[in-house]
Amino acid sequence: MRWPASKLKVAALASGRGSNLQALIDAASRPGAPFSMVAVISDNPNAKALERARAAGVDAVLVERRNHATRQLFDAALAEEARKRGADLVCLAGFMRLLSPSFLSGFRGRVINIHPALLPSFPGLDAQKQALDYGVKVTGCTVHFVDEGVDTGPIILQTPVMVEEGDTAQTLSDRILEQEHLAYVKAVELIATGKIEFPHPRLAGAGA
Ligand code: GRF
Repeated sequence: MRWPASKLKVAALASGRGSNLQALIDAASRPGAPFSMVAVISDNPNAKALERARAAGVDAVLVERRNHATRQLFDAALAEEARKRGADLVCLAGFMRLLSPSFLSGFRGRVINIHPALLPSFPGLDAQKQALDYGVKVTGCTVHFVDEGVDTGPIILQTPVMVEEGDTAQTLSDRILEQEHLAYVKAVELIATGKIEFPHPRLAGAGA
């Protein structure tokens, strides 16, 4: 079944450059797109992601950690910004903070992330460098639902990228990033068109 009946409303959380966000914004603006962007929320006043949102006419919202006494209050403020714009799905797009269970409980089974490696290999930071240092011949990117672990949630889709002779962390990251942009849009479209179960049943059912 398609969830919801109308266009899926997507909020993105982004801390930096926002190139994956841009891919989502571009896809949402195509005629007949099955989803729309309702907000870009950032913890970083200098995030290029906020500029990209403004340029596209999407609500750009700054929520700074220093203005909130505790992590729980900060996470609650982030969730409230997404909730009050009616977001169905939250896409993490280079959001550099871990979300606490209190954020996730408001969007249970409805938060996804993109990671620049083939999970469960190389979770966490510098995934491309981890892959290169390990010496794998194939790496790539993964779109997954977010649970309470670090890059551990159920996988939606993955795209492989070959490691080439002479690759540096930068050249490899650049090739993975091209695939990330395609994979993230595809994953959101799969959700928006009811092709995969959403909210994720295991996560949606977890806890009270
Ligand atoms: C991407 O490599 C993404 O996989 C990781 O953070 C980076 C964000 O890049 N989670 P951008 O801000 O989308 O350009």
